[in-house]
Amino acid sequence: MSRPYLLCIGHRGAMGHAPENTLISVRKALELGARCLEVDVYYVDGELVVYHDDRLERTTNGVGYVEQQTFAYLRSLDAGGGQKIPTLAEVCQAVGPRAGLNIELKGEGTAAPVAELLSGLIASGWQKERFLVSSFNHIELSEMKRLHADIRIGALIRCVPVSGASFAEELGAFSVHPCVEFVNQWFVDDAHQRGLKVFVYAVDHVEDIARMQSLGVDGVFTGYPERVLEHYAQGDGADVWERR
Ligand code: G3P
Ligand code: MG
Repeated sequence: MSRPYLLCIGHRGAMGHAPENTLISVRKALELGARCLEVDVYYVDGELVVYHDDRLERTTNGVGYVEQQTFAYLRSLDAGGGQKIPTLAEVCQAVGPRAGLNIELKGEGTAAPVAELLSGLIASGWQKERFLVSSFNHIELSEMKRLHADIRIGALIRCVPVSGASFAEELGAFSVHPCVEFVNQWFVDDAHQRGLKVFVYAVDHVEDIARMQSLGVDGVFTGYPERVLEHYAQGDGADVWERR
């Protein structure tokens, strides 16, 4: 019997196994067999850095707001296990042409430098379909769309809006990314009727992974890729974000 489909997207690499948003976390997600992964990005001191929080204390030995630091200071920090905070370019090189990369824009003003970096990679032969740019900041997403209409965008949300997924359709998004706490059948069906894929975060528990599959979502962000890959089939086509 063929296994049901559910796309596995490594969350901050494979944050259940390695320090989040570091190169070893990215490599771990790929090693475990994830075809897609997500990282978070800020634009600081002229550099795109891969980091999640607005402050440094939780995951590094640094202090203060990320966006108020110099790049040199950020690079001097231990981001866990002796890892440095990577740049987005370094993560792209670690991922290579093998996997799908979801770049979540965290800070304001990240859309333009990300569009520039991706334009360069696409010009040098990377498939544009490998990239999916997402954000809770839908203004940044609009900017991304304006600067590079060909790059797919995913609209993040942490609630159930009365108008369903209409906001994502209006943005011209490829996908909508609701959170596991709020997503429900009505929202999933509404998004699908609008032609949007539904990728849910952060789905780490096996019960939640099964529940998401039964809601008919297209994929889940997880810190434990093996928990999805063990039970669910992945796409076999050239486009990693599609079923085939
Ligand atoms: O992009 C999915 C997920 O990463 C969104 O939330 O806070 O983990 O970045 P967060
Ligand atoms: Mg994220």
